[in-house]
Amino acid sequence: MCEKKKAGIIGLGMYVPENILTNKELEKMVDTTDEWIVSRTGIKERHIARSDEATSDMAVNAAREALKDAHLNPEDIDLIIVATITPDMFFPATACVVQAKLGARQIPAFDISVACSGFIYGLAIASQFISSGTYKHALIIAAEKLSAITDWNDRSTCVLFGDGAGAAVLAPVEEGGILSISLGANGHQGELIKLPAGGSRIPATKESIEGRLHFIKMNGSELFKHAVKIMADAALSATAPLGLKAEDIKLVIPHQANERILNAAARRIGLKKDQIYLNLDKYGNMSAASSAVALAEAVKKGLIKKGDKIVLDAFGGGLTWGAMVIEWSK
Ligand code: ACO
Repeated sequence: MCEKKKAGIIGLGMYVPENILTNKELEKMVDTTDEWIVSRTGIKERHIARSDEATSDMAVNAAREALKDAHLNPEDIDLIIVATITPDMFFPATACVVQAKLGARQIPAFDISVACSGFIYGLAIASQFISSGTYKHALIIAAEKLSAITDWNDRSTCVLFGDGAGAAVLAPVEEGGILSISLGANGHQGELIKLPAGGSRIPATKESIEGRLHFIKMNGSELFKHAVKIMADAALSATAPLGLKAEDIKLVIPHQANERILNAAARRIGLKKDQIYLNLDKYGNMSAASSAVALAEAVKKGLIKKGDKIVLDAFGGGLTWGAMVIEWSK
């Protein structure tokens, strides 16, 4: 009988726009302070895309780097998934735009909309196609231009978000790979973070624009409470079936929403501070792109070596969440 192959990451890439917006600059835009932002979130600066730079442009840059890292060409790719809540447009899917820009074959390409959990959901979906032998090389890209849906008059949200993209190539691996996956959602709490207008419920009108309904609305303190428990529970439900304890984990690559959430979740699962990879000081919350960029950066820095067991862990709008254990195979 043919044994199912595990899917593993064989290439990673990332891209952030050149333009950096510091907390000091935000002080001039809204009633806030660098001290408030750093002490409440850990964020010092974020990257903001140019007005002519769309999500697909950032996605393509990250994808090209991931393909190079995997020693593959665009025509080697069998599947493209883009995780984003800021697609170039409602349709066609940003994944189709990326397919054309990369010069990939006429392979399946689609978007998924699960906010900050998108990179993990994307890896989870693609890994099923790889393990079943349906496809050999899948490109998963998490890309966001959150600056386009941020209300720059709302100090409670505009200090949090940034733009960027991360990409991974998944392929069958002989050793290691994705060992476990835990995904979940709770639509009852969807009101906690949403973009109210622009869809079929509230199509764009003069009133919707004047009401600023095309920007992110968020109940931050309520989300905060759920986030700590959800992130800890998700990590535990991915590690427990493998019998892994905190000390067996080399590094947790979390969604980067708030340093206080991550420290509290880490305490809950018994992790030491140096077992959590943090980069939100430089990038803020890039939704789906956060964990993808963090993984690419951690690998680039040599923090993850062959045989290491790492945990990807995210939660976000939906609410959605996801965690996975990967044994590094490169
Ligand atoms: N500068 C100064 N003061 C501010 C700012 C600001 N930028 N923003 C809010 N405040 C004020 C508030 O008005 C409030 O003042 P008040 O007490 O006079 O009413 C006070 O600071 C405290 O506000 P809180 O919202 O209670 O502050 P909190 O400590 O909860 O921090 C934060 C807010 C950072 C948003 C936090 O709640 C958080 O990180 N929540 C989680 C967000 C999250 O994880 N989102 C993930 C999903 S993202 C996605 O899916 C795309």
